[in-house]
Amino acid sequence: MTKKRYAFVGTGGRALSFLEPLATTYRDTNELVALCDLSPTRMAYYNGMLAGELGFHAVPAYTHDRFDEMLRVEKPDAVFVCTVDATHHDYIVRALRAGCDVVTEKPLTTDAEKCRLILDTVRQTGRKLRVAFNYRWAPFRTKVRELIAAGTIGRVRSVNLEYLLDTNHGADYFRRWHAQAANSGTLLVHKSTHHFDLVNWWLDAIPQQVFAYGDQVFYGRKNALARGDAKLAAYPRYTGEPAAKDDPFRLDLNESEPFRRLYLDAEADSGYRRDQNVFREGIDIPDQMSLNVRYRTGELLTYSLTCYSPREGMRVCFNGDRGRIEYHEFIGTHMNRAVRPGDFKLDAKPGSEPEGEWIKVYPHFQTGYTVPMPAQTGPHGGADAILNEHIYSPTVAPDTLGRTAGHEQGAASILVGIAGVQSIATNLPVNLLDLVPLRPEATRLSELV
Ligand SMILES: NC(=O)c1ccc[n+]([C@@H]2O[C@H](COP(=O)([O-])OP(=O)(O)OC[C@H]3O[C@@H](n4cnc5c(N)ncnc54)[C@H](O)[C@@H]3O)[C@@H](O)[C@H]2O)c1
Repeated sequence: MTKKRYAFVGTGGRALSFLEPLATTYRDTNELVALCDLSPTRMAYYNGMLAGELGFHAVPAYTHDRFDEMLRVEKPDAVFVCTVDATHHDYIVRALRAGCDVVTEKPLTTDAEKCRLILDTVRQTGRKLRVAFNYRWAPFRTKVRELIAAGTIGRVRSVNLEYLLDTNHGADYFRRWHAQAANSGTLLVHKSTHHFDLVNWWLDAIPQQVFAYGDQVFYGRKNALARGDAKLAAYPRYTGEPAAKDDPFRLDLNESEPFRRLYLDAEADSGYRRDQNVFREGIDIPDQMSLNVRYRTGELLTYSLTCYSPREGMRVCFNGDRGRIEYHEFIGTHMNRAVRPGDFKLDAKPGSEPEGEWIKVYPHFQTGYTVPMPAQTGPHGGADAILNEHIYSPTVAPDTLGRTAGHEQGAASILVGIAGVQSIATNLPVNLLDLVPLRPEATRLSELV
């Protein structure tokens, strides 16, 4: 059997979630042929791991300026894009034009112009582009989809989704490249793309119009000073900073070997500082956001994202014309520490009870009940392992739940965040079709690729 040839661009923390299964569980049917990144140090780290503990072998490593050469020489069938969000489009488009299929990490891209370029290029090349929305593949979230699709609460008319990022995981976005909108499109694109995608998929609906507010009220220098926390803003980064010893936002890159080797050792060749002070100047993204969305089929979404919470998780309530579903997911916090899925563990949270996940159904005029579900383990609520099997295994069962997202479904999600950013700036509602003409005739998400 001919193996499917994969090349990776972007070898930071996230890449490992896809590299490891490719080089181990799925190596008989797939071949990793090359890595590409800004940083030779990061690629060398992964090559060492591939040749060492993963029992595979090192692969050719190309710096980012040699991406096209990599495609020519290594002839991958598919390219995995795991770079900084604002660069996804560039690699997606070049890979598609070179005749490759592409799997990209979320978000598809960060603005409407790049989104139009991607959609046009897929149309012109006829190649396949898939967005790795791992959230859909977590068993609890999949169950929500099944319940709604089965008409358990009739037709869903509205959804409330509150997402909380805590002062561990949430703060991590403010230490890194995500803190600049030019890199991440703001967390309304980078992070909320998961949540908007879930709602689109749960409801099988396409978003139509967005109105949003967003402010920076917690992170950033001015907020620390206003709260009397000037001490926490007194140094530019955390690693090796004695004054940060008791700082609860501190991240010392020397304290984790993957962090040290992937990021600290790579500062010289990439300039990327992963441990910047969350109360520094120059952070230009909001840390609390609130949106209203109307879908083409009339449903409403009320959404909020808070990035400085003591707790991490989400509550989602679906109001149907025959009842209500409440989905509750508080499964603890983590940061992407470039750990392998097998090493994944939830950080203990002092003083807070783990509440886990549950789904409750409240039918009209009947007693409510909790939907029985087996306990879930593994990164991202068990989602990553299921997604990897679906990407790499040639014998996987058909995806009857429509969990696979192509370029159009990837666009339907980011456009909510992109419209939200525009609405925050203009204080006006934004019609998504004015941003990107995404199949205006379609009414259901499942009509989109
Ligand atoms: N689905 C999920 O659960 C999940 C989790 C984490 C990250 N992600 C996504 O994965 C991607 C990577 O995130 P990460 O946490 O690994 O970030 P990271 O900062 O650890 O890694 C980013 C990598 O991209 C490289 N890079 C940056 N610009 C580049 C360019 N122009 N050309 C080539 N390489 C470039 C950097 O050198 C770095 O190695 C992001 O798009 C992010 O949204 C998804």
